[in-house]
Amino acid sequence: MSGLDGSGLSVYNGPMLSLRDLHLQVPAMLAPMAGVSDLPFRLMARKFGCPLAFAEMISAHALCLGNGRTNRFLESSSADRPLGIQLLGREPEHLRRAIDLVEPGSCDVIDLNAACPVRKVTRKGEGAALLKEPRLLSKLVALLVARASVPVTVKIRSGWDHSSVNAREIGKRIADAGADAVCVHGRTRSQGYGGRADLGVIRSVKEAVSIPVIASGDLFSAEAVDKMLRETGCDGVAIARGALGNPWIFLEIAAVYEKRPSPPRPGIEQLKAVMEEHLRLSVERHGEILGVIDFRKFFIWYTKGLQNARILRPKAVRVNTPDEMRSLIDELPNASLVRPASFGLPRVSIRPASGIGSTVDSGWPC
Ligand SMILES: Cc1cc2nc3c(=O)[nH]c(=O)nc-3n(C[C@H](O)[C@H](O)[C@H](O)COP(=O)(O)O)c2cc1C
Repeated sequence: MSGLDGSGLSVYNGPMLSLRDLHLQVPAMLAPMAGVSDLPFRLMARKFGCPLAFAEMISAHALCLGNGRTNRFLESSSADRPLGIQLLGREPEHLRRAIDLVEPGSCDVIDLNAACPVRKVTRKGEGAALLKEPRLLSKLVALLVARASVPVTVKIRSGWDHSSVNAREIGKRIADAGADAVCVHGRTRSQGYGGRADLGVIRSVKEAVSIPVIASGDLFSAEAVDKMLRETGCDGVAIARGALGNPWIFLEIAAVYEKRPSPPRPGIEQLKAVMEEHLRLSVERHGEILGVIDFRKFFIWYTKGLQNARILRPKAVRVNTPDEMRSLIDELPNASLVRPASFGLPRVSIRPASGIGSTVDSGWPC
């Protein structure tokens, strides 16, 4: 059980999250995010204690075709471990070959995506469409478990739509097929990002299976994480939008688990230093032009809640060189950073390099 006591200290007493030999002292991970979870973003999260990070989802088929762009998603570094790789696919042969290409030694967890709601994906029967084919999903999970030498997890949504919420049944099948954990985003495919994650559905999966269940949805603060674990009984959480421009969330979650008071929110100088480091890593990895373009969205997210930063955001999305971006960071007003535990991160255009492309109606891909 977990919970915040009156002083803001956690009363969490649960075990660490274990996926076979991978033991996470703090049961939180960086969720896969197409178009976002590149190496620089993951390294920034790790700097603030993220114990396990997922790379951008990879199409098993594209990997089999030897697509150079897809192979870039596998690029990592020694500081980028433990690392999760998420595969998208429905053809057993593609997934089998993809496992062989990804392994051995290059990652610590393999995840199968049965959650992506994007039409371009689901019309091929992949992602969340697998929720409508429980038998095929079981078969794919069993195949991955037999083939992979690392823990296998599966990411699902609560169901295809409100009339077919089947996460509990799907969760049982995934467990029976031998997966090491199941991650549940408590929204249906048709919900996209609307409404709120349904904690009841997540709890029903936890009650039905004996493998670890990882909860996902609306985890924008350590308090939200604590509430999620208390109300669902889940074993861990996957942080997605809550980590955009906010790597500090991992420090805050760790403080809850280690029964320490929450660390202070970053001051403006620390924020600028973190942004500059992220920009540097982005340029190092993607080159000057693409590195800056990729960083534009992070500028928007990092400055959420920063008073008087609004006038700089339209400039940030037009900046083309690292020097211009650094000047803009330098111009950030010396105002305190407020990041309430709320919904409504600024929406920016995300074009996942995976080619998944389109966004769901909320503006978020996947
Ligand atoms: C930009 C973005 C990209 C995403 N890409 C993926 C993905 O590739 N695979 C996946 O399983 N989920 C993906 N998701 C879903 C998240 O992993 C997570 O389940 C979802 O955002 C709910 O968590 P949140 O409310 O904390 O953001 C993505 C979410 C966002 C915002």
